[in-house]
Amino acid sequence: MIEKLNNATQFTEILMERFVSEGKVCVDGTVGNGHDACKLAGLVGESGFVYGFDIQAEAIVSSQTLIESRGLENRVRLIQDTHENMEIHVPDQIDFIIYNLGYLPGGDKTIRTESNAIIKSMEKSLRIMKPGAVMLVTAYRGHQGGLDEYIAVKKYLRSLPQRSYNVFEFSFINQKNNPPITIGLEVRGGRTCQR
Ligand SMILES: C[S@@+](CC[C@H](N)C(=O)[O-])C[C@H]1O[C@@H](n2cnc3c(N)ncnc32)[C@H](O)[C@@H]1O
Repeated sequence: MIEKLNNATQFTEILMERFVSEGKVCVDGTVGNGHDACKLAGLVGESGFVYGFDIQAEAIVSSQTLIESRGLENRVRLIQDTHENMEIHVPDQIDFIIYNLGYLPGGDKTIRTESNAIIKSMEKSLRIMKPGAVMLVTAYRGHQGGLDEYIAVKKYLRSLPQRSYNVFEFSFINQKNNPPITIGLEVRGGRTCQR
């Protein structure tokens, strides 16, 4: 359970813990080293499922190793393909999707997410998101191309109709050196709020 709020990663984990529970179906659009996929697999329990995408074999192999080391392999399917091809691999309606933009930590920094592909993937994911489903995107503005990618993704998300989606952005506005930003949405029409 995350109890600190020092950075975008912790904010993302808090939202995962809030919105992902036993039986949910999730997609990790950028698996990388598998930390988010593993966290999601723990949260969905034995009756849930996680689909994870990455274009790099290196990412798929290291993530599979991590997932197997935690005994979570029966609830995760890792797919070496672009997230733009989501509809080929994900037969289910989904409850949650996460994208962590940029390059593989410790890997080749020239292989990065790309705004056109991310937006195409988002368009496809919106077609399979259930009412109440949540999308989270962590964007890094500090590396080459990161700022343009953030601007493009934000422009796309803010163009979505308010009647169908609650779109939000979370950033630490007093931190130096362009800290990561979390952008996301909730598909409207899910559960009602209990106060
Ligand atoms: C910042 S890393 C993700 C980190 C990951 N969330 C973790 O927990 O370790 C971004 C990943 O996106 C992958 N990627 C880039 N373009 C992609 C695409 N079109 N489809 C799927 N993955 C892609 C990269 O290979 C890289 O591993």
